[in-house]
Amino acid sequence: MFFGASGDLAYKQIFPALQGLVNQGLEIPIIGVARADWTRDQLVARARASIEERGRFDPRAFERLASLLRYVDGDYRDPSTFEQLRQTLGGAKRPLHYLAIPPSMFAPVVRHLASSSSATNAGVVVEKPFGRDLKSAYELNANLREVFPERSIFRIDHYLGKESVQNLLYFRFANSFLEPLWNRNFVARVQITMAESFGVDGRGKFYEETGAIRDVIQNHMLQVVACLAMEPPAGSDDAVREAKTTVLQAIQPLTPNDVVRGQYVGYRNEPGVSKASRTETFAAVRLSIDSWRWAGVPFFIRAGKCLPVTCTEVLVELQPPPRSVFEEPRELLAGTNYLRFRLGTDVATAIGVRSKVAGEPMAGHDVELVANRADADVMSPYERLLGDAAKGDQSLFANEDAVMAEWRVVNNLLDDSTPLYEYRPGTWGPTEADRMISPGRWHTPVGCR
Ligand code: BG6
Repeated sequence: MFFGASGDLAYKQIFPALQGLVNQGLEIPIIGVARADWTRDQLVARARASIEERGRFDPRAFERLASLLRYVDGDYRDPSTFEQLRQTLGGAKRPLHYLAIPPSMFAPVVRHLASSSSATNAGVVVEKPFGRDLKSAYELNANLREVFPERSIFRIDHYLGKESVQNLLYFRFANSFLEPLWNRNFVARVQITMAESFGVDGRGKFYEETGAIRDVIQNHMLQVVACLAMEPPAGSDDAVREAKTTVLQAIQPLTPNDVVRGQYVGYRNEPGVSKASRTETFAAVRLSIDSWRWAGVPFFIRAGKCLPVTCTEVLVELQPPPRSVFEEPRELLAGTNYLRFRLGTDVATAIGVRSKVAGEPMAGHDVELVANRADADVMSPYERLLGDAAKGDQSLFANEDAVMAEWRVVNNLLDDSTPLYEYRPGTWGPTEADRMISPGRWHTPVGCR
């Protein structure tokens, strides 16, 4: 059952994911809940429009999906909505409730689910943002935990369902050559760029309350850092999540000196945005991880809207050779050995090396060994994650300790008190961000699709 059936997320992500799941064999009734004065036929029409626009319409799969769709209309604060729901659920033994609704509605919905006996043996999937800061995340978690045990709570971060992020995790632990290099002795620094060439895209009201730090750094970017920096998982079933949580807990809380916030010129004219807005549409941060492996290695992240391209890329820069053996100055060798991971609609894993140029001089040039390039579009993150939640598999969901650790990292920056610099759309954000990373430069992703 999913709450928010008439919403934007349902339209953009959930219906296409449901068709994919039905195609894979999902055969349970799917109840859409919304306050839209719709009929079931209107829900089916909406699902069709969504998949035609946002997914790959498959007439046979869609027909099966349509036959599984049910609809309940009503106010999320009204107990009678939940009575209707209870009836529609019938004898469902392990219902899964997906809250694709604004966070302010989580608590009332969860309470009504409990009082209408719809929470018994049920799971709950919650969308991001999981709270607005550390305090509200604790409160929200406490509300959920009053009704659901931790093993039944699925906190979505769609980055964890991305093929390219899975590839990162796989590459790290399926290649033995990496481990000896993967530490403070060989890694000079790590940088992640999450660039989007578009603005707030009609989501001004949501974004104004959120900003880049809450929207993508607290969750998606820190999960990518966790995949890069975690210790090799060992032992128990939940080892990957535990290792990620441990490293998230070792990231030092950011201070105002570790951040540069920016806002693109024109943001204040977006619908739903205040003319005096102090919300950042760009943020660059410098993280330190207090662990044996990573002490002294800076992890830089920059993320922003209205940048020159849409692309997310990780660069792990290795130390240059200790001295130049050939005729080249050592400075030339700085930054030439690296690993690069493209986390986008294309997946790329590349290794940067120096290779000799043909001829007499012992001089070289930079080359990349592209280890892997594949289509990331095999399964959408939502299809993967909702399928896992339906199976009760929590591996790709953030646990409570991880989410709290993420909020702890950014919590000091959420009060708007740090300077906000303007930048022109189509540029790489405020120049202050360049100063943050110097000596050295931000890596610019090229050839983005
Ligand atoms: C969402 C943010 O969580 O992630 C958006 O709210 C952002 O602002 C989006 O655009 C990026 O996701 P993806 O999968 O397109 O990289």
